[in-house]
Amino acid sequence: MYTGKARAYTNIALIKYWGKKDEHLIIPMNSSLSLTLDAFYTETSVQFDENLTEDLFVLDGQKQDTKQTTKISKFLDLVRKEQNLALFAKVDSQNYVPTAAGLASSASGLAALAGACNEALDLQLTEIELSRLARRGSGSACRSIFGGFAEWQKGDSDQTSFAQGIPSDHWEDELAMLFVLVDDGVKDVSSRDGMKRTVESSSFYSGWLETVEADLATAKQAIAEKDFNKLGEVTEANGLRMHGTTLAAVPPFTYWSPESLKVMQLVRSARQQGLPCYFTMDAGPNVKILVEKKNLSTLKNHLATHFSKKQLIEAYAGPKIALIPLERSEKL
Ligand code: ADP
Ligand code: DP6
Repeated sequence: MYTGKARAYTNIALIKYWGKKDEHLIIPMNSSLSLTLDAFYTETSVQFDENLTEDLFVLDGQKQDTKQTTKISKFLDLVRKEQNLALFAKVDSQNYVPTAAGLASSASGLAALAGACNEALDLQLTEIELSRLARRGSGSACRSIFGGFAEWQKGDSDQTSFAQGIPSDHWEDELAMLFVLVDDGVKDVSSRDGMKRTVESSSFYSGWLETVEADLATAKQAIAEKDFNKLGEVTEANGLRMHGTTLAAVPPFTYWSPESLKVMQLVRSARQQGLPCYFTMDAGPNVKILVEKKNLSTLKNHLATHFSKKQLIEAYAGPKIALIPLERSEKL
């Protein structure tokens, strides 16, 4: 029996990953940049066990259905193949983040699973190798191996597509992200399906590809210069462009709800009143607001008349993945 555990934190992209060049290997069409956060995370343990006759996936204490378990099995197969291992596994995972609500549970979930496999089988992967493995589970997961800012360099092959931390002289410790939860239910269109449909059918997708690498360069420059407004402006613009592509997909779709628009409007009005803050959104209606820590409470007050305390969740820069070795014993 081989057992291992890991904890990985979610990350929110400031420059989005949106579209795959290779669906099987999960090679993205564009590079992306994220901030790992401390408020939301996943803890996963994996047990490769000779007594099992199939893979089992338990999420938040609930045994998952065949569809979800098959996704996990496919990921485990990558590791089993590489290691020449013929054991089924039980994956037990706890999300300290709402699942599939556009709050990046797939990022923390698949990064934690990769880390748990690394520990269980003593793979001793480097951070880059671990990032490549996590990427095979979910693209955004490759960035959750790192704390603070991370850049996923798109690469053009399994070997060359991975994330790395961005040196920032700890500037991220001065930043915060406020999550405005307008809906924590499961979304209609997953990130995976949404980006696929967009790449295949949206006439706006070429515009996305034309601008995203310049956005990335601007974001990296802003981090190097510790220029909050520059980082915020490019974050907001890049997110809006990503969401713009979905409107021209066939059939068209949007992740925005009327409440999301309300939050965007409130962010703009806060800025007009002199409070620097910028929004971004992922594949769901919840809005994340980038703000300097020193301005967080003013921002919360600005939103408080429209949203309850429970809907406003603050997050700060989070750490890299934590690998937790449990026990290792030779095959019985
Ligand atoms: P989100 O915005 O939460 O990342 P996605 O639709 O992109 O939403 O991904 C949700 C999917 O990620 C889930 O349906 C499940 O397949 C996978 N996932 C979420 N949490 C975990 C976890 N802890 N372990 C393994 N897979 C997970
Ligand atoms: C909008 O990483 O969930 O959050 O690679 O298909 O698993 P798959 O997709 P996923 O997509 C994340 C999309 C995004 C933007 C981002 O996180 O960069």
